[in-house]
Parts: sequence; structure tokens; C-alpha cells
Amino acid sequence: MASANAGRSSFLLLALLLCFSTAHGQLSETFYSSACPSLNLTGIVNRVLRSELSNGNQRMGASLLRLFFHDCFPQGCDASVLLGCDASILLDDTGSFTGEKTAFPNVNSVRGYEVIDQIKTNVEAACPGIVSCADIVALAARDGTFLLGGPTWNVSLGRRDSTTASWSQANSDLPNPASSLATLLAAFGNKGLNATDMTALSGAHTVGFTQCQFAKLRRSNCPRTKGVNDTVLAPLDVQTQVTFDNAYYGDLTKYKGLLHSDQELYNGGSQDALVKKYSSNSAAFFADFVAAMIKMGNISPLTGADGQIRANCRVVNN
Ligand code: HEM
Ligand SMILES: *[C@@H]1O[C@H](CO)[C@@H](O)[C@H](O)[C@H]1NC(C)=O
Ligand SMILES: *[C@@H]1O[C@H](CO)[C@@H](O)[C@H](O)[C@H]1NC(C)=O
Ligand SMILES: *[C@@H]1O[C@H](CO)[C@@H](O)[C@H](O)[C@H]1NC(C)=O
Ligand SMILES: *[C@@H]1O[C@H](CO)[C@@H](O)[C@H](O)[C@H]1NC(C)=O
Repeated sequence: MASANAGRSSFLLLALLLCFSTAHGQLSETFYSSACPSLNLTGIVNRVLRSELSNGNQRMGASLLRLFFHDCFPQGCDASVLLGCDASILLDDTGSFTGEKTAFPNVNSVRGYEVIDQIKTNVEAACPGIVSCADIVALAARDGTFLLGGPTWNVSLGRRDSTTASWSQANSDLPNPASSLATLLAAFGNKGLNATDMTALSGAHTVGFTQCQFAKLRRSNCPRTKGVNDTVLAPLDVQTQVTFDNAYYGDLTKYKGLLHSDQELYNGGSQDALVKKYSSNSAAFFADFVAAMIKMGNISPLTGADGQIRANCRVVNN
């Protein structure tokens, strides 16, 4: 009995260590420069995104930012299912495999898979078999943010692609828009992201749209009766929907947060002061957002000989 307990607690300790693993020592900003010196990776990502956004599709900047969040968060605490920013979200379902695309927070909601495919095609043409889909997602999120007027930052590279995905982890780890502040803090805390990181990362809702079914407040373009047409879109930031700025926090201080989870950040709780600060100090928001994005991008990357470099982001290599 005692040894079974000891075995169990050392297993739990190991699982906990894996959950919080931030072993990103092998990531580096110049990761691909020796394997493919001629590759202008950031240039390729930037060109695809610029053309996408200038074709009247500015929302795609927001969608790619969200795609990265939804790739990084689902994380197994079991050595055989270590999922961080590993492109697990990009794997298509097959007859014998159910991935993350059909998990509740993702299905009919996460967008941008075709844009990642386009970038990957261009990158493969320049340097086949070298660059991971996981790194492309990280770079696309950075450029999506910047092209909508937000901050930029350097992305460390060298994440490898998973050979699996987890429908159940996507369901359990990604936060629900009906969450309370305590639940949100716990969900981010489980990933090693603290309250400041959580409140700053939520500022991503300064861009993009939600389907009316998730809106707590009724927006002008949502149908009068809930349930009539839940897929109509409403902007998450009522003021500047395609500009990455700090207006989202101004919305919250006026109790105009669209999702319940948004307004929870300013509702008499521990994050009120920070929300107020960000609403009047966009430089403080940008600095904390960048720090938190870098932290999020370092959640349990696959490095070294783990995982693989997928040839096609949607399927595991055979
Ligand atoms: C704090 C917990 C969060 C919750 C509960 C949440 C929930 C949601 C929901 C329900 C939507 C609308 C989806 C739809 O209607 O299909 C949405 C959209 C979005 N989320 Fe979050 N989110 C959270 C945090 C984040 C974070 C950390 C990021 C990125 C750093 C992010 C980025 C976005 C973006 C950019 C959109 C708009 C996407 C588009 O227009 O395609 N969210 N979120
Ligand atoms: C990479 O491409 C970008 C955008 O096309 C360009 O601005 C940049 O100068 C290029 N960098 C190098 C090192 O060629
Ligand atoms: C990115 O790194 C380069 C080289 O280390 C540095 O000069 C530049 O200021 C950094 N950019 C940002 C946005 O941090
Ligand atoms: C959150 O973590 C950052 C460093 O990653 C730190 O600067 C900040 O003080 C922390 N905030 C809280 C509320 O613990
Ligand atoms: C619901 O809204 C969507 C998107 O605006 C539209 O394509 C669809 O036809 C609408 N359905 C109904 C029943 O009104």
C-alpha cells in the first residue's frame, strides 16, 4: 500500500513536471539559418498575410492570432500526449483519427487553416522538409497582430510538429466564454500563465468577431431573439474591430464586454486595476501582451528528435 502510494505520487510529480515543462532551451531566433541559409521565412509569412489582409480579409489577422492560442493551450500531462504549440490543431480528422478541429471550442469557429497551408506551400518550395507547421503558426500570429496595428516581437523557432492531437484536451483546456474570473485564472495558471498574462492575452479580443450565440450583451447585429440565428457575427471590440489597440479595455470599463468571460476581468475583482491601467496606457498593454505571447509560445514545445517536420500541415508524415 505504502509503495503503491509512493509510486503514485512520483507518477503525479512526473506528470506535473511535464505539465509545466518549459524546456525551450533549444528554441532560437536563428534556428533555420544553418539548415537553410537562403530562406527568408519571416518574409514569406509576411507576404502571404499582407496579401490576405489587403484582400478585404482583415479578420484573418485575428483568426490567426486565435489559431495560435488554440494550438498552444491543449496540453496533455501524460508523456505520450505532450501537446503545446505543436501544430496539433492543424491535423485533419481521418476515418480512424479524431483530432482537435472538431472539439467544441474549435469546430465551426477556428479559421485560417488555408492560410497556414499557403504559407507552408511557399516555405516548402524554398526549403523542403525543414520548417515546422508549429513555427509557421507562431509567426502568423505575430504578423497578424502587427498588421492590424499591434506590437511586434521576435519569435524563437525550432518547435516541432506533433504526431498526434487530443480532442479531449482541446475540450478540457480551452476556456469557455461562460467562465468566471476564478475559472479563467485557473485555466491560465495551469499553463504557467499568471493573472497579468491572462488579462493581457485577453486583450486579443480587441480584434475579431464572435458568433452571437456566445455574446452576453445583445449587439446591434445580433438577432433580437437568442437562438434564432446564433452564427451571425458581432465584433468583440465595439469601438475598433479591426485595429489591434487598447480599446477593448475601455469597453470593459464601460461594461460593454461582449463575452461573459471578457466582462469578468472588470467586475469588481482582482483584475479591475489592471484593466483600468491598460485602458489608458496602450504601451503598458502592448508590453505585457508581448511578454505573455512569448510565454504562451514556449508552452511545452517539441524539440530535438521529438515529433517531426510535417510535409503537409494537415497530416502526419507516413
Ligand atoms: C480568456 C479566455 C478566452 C475565452 C473564453 C475566449 C473565447 C472566445 C470566443 C467564444 C470567441 C468567438 C468564437 C466564435 O464565435 O466562433 C473568441 C474569439 C477570438 N479569440 Fe478568444 N477567448 C479567450 C482568450 C483568447 C486569447 C488568449 C486569445 C489570443 C491571444 C484570443 C483570441 C481571439 C481572437 C483573435 C478572436 C476572434 C477570432 C476571429 O474573428 O476569427 N482569445 N474567443
Ligand atoms: C525578407 O523578406 C522581407 C519581405 O519581403 C524583406 O523586407 C526583407 O528584406 C527580406 N529579408 C532578407 C534578409 O532578405
Ligand atoms: C529582435 O531581435 C533583433 C536582433 O537581436 C533586435 O535588434 C530587435 O530589436 C528585436 N526586435 C524586437 C521587436 O524585439
Ligand atoms: C507574471 O509573470 C511576469 C513574468 O512572466 C511577471 O513580470 C509579473 O510580475 C507576474 N505577475 C503576477 C501578477 O504575478
Ligand atoms: C443566419 O446567418 C448566416 C450568416 O449571416 C446566414 O448565412 C444564414 O442564412 C442565416 N440563417 C437564417 C435562418 O436566417
